[in-house]
Amino acid sequence: MKTLHLSASEPGSAEIAAEILKNGGIVAIPTETVYGLAASALDPNAVKKIFEAKGRPQDNPLIVHIAKLDDVYPLVEKVDERLYPLAEKFWPGPLTVIMKKSALVPYEVTAGLDTVAIRMPSHPVARKIIEASALPLAAPSANASGKPSPTKASHVIEDLDGKIDAVIDGGECSVGVESTVLSLAGETPVLLRPGGISPEEIEEVIGKTEISHAVFEKLAANEKPSSPGMKYKHYAPRARVSLVKSDFESYLNFVKAQKYETCAVCFDGEGKNFDVAVEYGKKDDPASQAKRVFDALRQVDETGCEFALVRCPEPTKEGLAVYNRLLRSAAFRVIGLDFKRPVYGLTGRSGSGKSTVGKMLREMNVNVIDADKLARKAVADPDVIAKLREYFGEDIIKDGSLDRRLLAERAFSSPEKTALLNKATHPEISRLVIEEIHSGEALGKRASVIDAPVLFESDLTCLCKKVICVTAPENEVIKRLSLRDGITDEEIRWRLSAQRDEEYYKSRSDIIIENVDPEKTREKVIKFTEEELS
Ligand code: TXA
Ligand code: MG
Repeated sequence: MKTLHLSASEPGSAEIAAEILKNGGIVAIPTETVYGLAASALDPNAVKKIFEAKGRPQDNPLIVHIAKLDDVYPLVEKVDERLYPLAEKFWPGPLTVIMKKSALVPYEVTAGLDTVAIRMPSHPVARKIIEASALPLAAPSANASGKPSPTKASHVIEDLDGKIDAVIDGGECSVGVESTVLSLAGETPVLLRPGGISPEEIEEVIGKTEISHAVFEKLAANEKPSSPGMKYKHYAPRARVSLVKSDFESYLNFVKAQKYETCAVCFDGEGKNFDVAVEYGKKDDPASQAKRVFDALRQVDETGCEFALVRCPEPTKEGLAVYNRLLRSAAFRVIGLDFKRPVYGLTGRSGSGKSTVGKMLREMNVNVIDADKLARKAVADPDVIAKLREYFGEDIIKDGSLDRRLLAERAFSSPEKTALLNKATHPEISRLVIEEIHSGEALGKRASVIDAPVLFESDLTCLCKKVICVTAPENEVIKRLSLRDGITDEEIRWRLSAQRDEEYYKSRSDIIIENVDPEKTREKVIKFTEEELS
């Protein structure tokens, strides 16, 4: 299909769009929030085309757009009284209200639900098209499902050119994030999606309003969402996005410590500090962030980076909508660098006795984090699995679970393959380590110690106040490893030669603990806690 490119500034373009809609076609139109992909809400066949063009899951309902309050009546069973003050204050504008639907609204629009979502946009072009077509228009955001929502006609073209009848360019959207979705289907109003209108503004008009927990956190595996759109991956560029909650300095250090090319997604004026950066608005101005956030997420992929670390916006009031979109583009990964207690590193060659030192520290109420253990947990993460499949083949998943032996065989077959394994897993391991630091703090631990043999090859050193290195003489190491792993001296020597030498560890560490005599080791550990943690 050839997509007609129209410009809103050309006279007659709204009428052309309206004509296409009346004839059962689908047209991307500008609204003040984001571009919408419109079809007649009364024409099930036209509505089906929307789902096809976007690749939208069948169970995700659409919002119906109207031009005047009277247009609500035919669409609902009965108008909820609370709608009037809300409409008075926020319509036309970025508020969507859910009520019981009338028989006129096809189930294709509501994805089988008995409720319908209705919104009256304020954008003059959208209004003109609704009026000219004399139809209620069903319209989801005009992006390919899963991608960031479109705030420019070029975004629509990127995703949907050739799949829709027309797109009408009305310039950049002024709000930039989608409408606030509010359900009036039950007794207490529930905010299902934060948007252009803040929860506080709504409460001012209709009183106590609940915020769905899905706004802040991932739905449980078998939970039924109150808004089906909540359960899908959303707003995601190809890059692996994570949100970073911290002050600018810690953010800067963390981004610089990354081992893989990473795009910094930061506030205006901060980008110059990074090799690759995309800015998304002013730090204390959520409206400017809202306007640019989706465009910024699209720009991330243009940089070619496979990783993006996003400065976390203030998750309250008007900022809530931006936070929610970023949170979902990051698959709920939030990396908090705001530690209350100091963090240390613990490293050394295998057999040196890191775990002995770790055990002693644990007994002294220190949170010792075993990075190797978290490495095993990391490979269960769906995004990590997706990368592993891409790098090592679909067949590493057998009967729904990871074939660890096959993965190991392939990943250790060459240094290049091992590097790919690290790239797929290390960022998730780091995230899990940071999560454990916070858990330890919540439990009242005195400090956290990251026990990681490859600490210096990771981004985690930037979190460490000091690094402790455990050493032991070669003959001692060989003795321990043969006891522990039951392998020959020759094998041990081979294994050790594959590791960095002791000097590598020592020269990069702040504290060196020679671990031969357990009593002496304990004394040194006690000395560490006294000097550093009291
Ligand atoms: O600003 C906007 O709302 C934009 C513009 C184009 O108007 N539209 C938009 O539509 O964002 P869409 O389809 O991307 O998001 C609609 C959201 C989805 O999360 C969907 O699940 C929810 O509204 N929704 C629609 N009808 C619903 C219903 N009856 N009950 C619960 N949630 C509903
Ligand atoms: Mg959408």
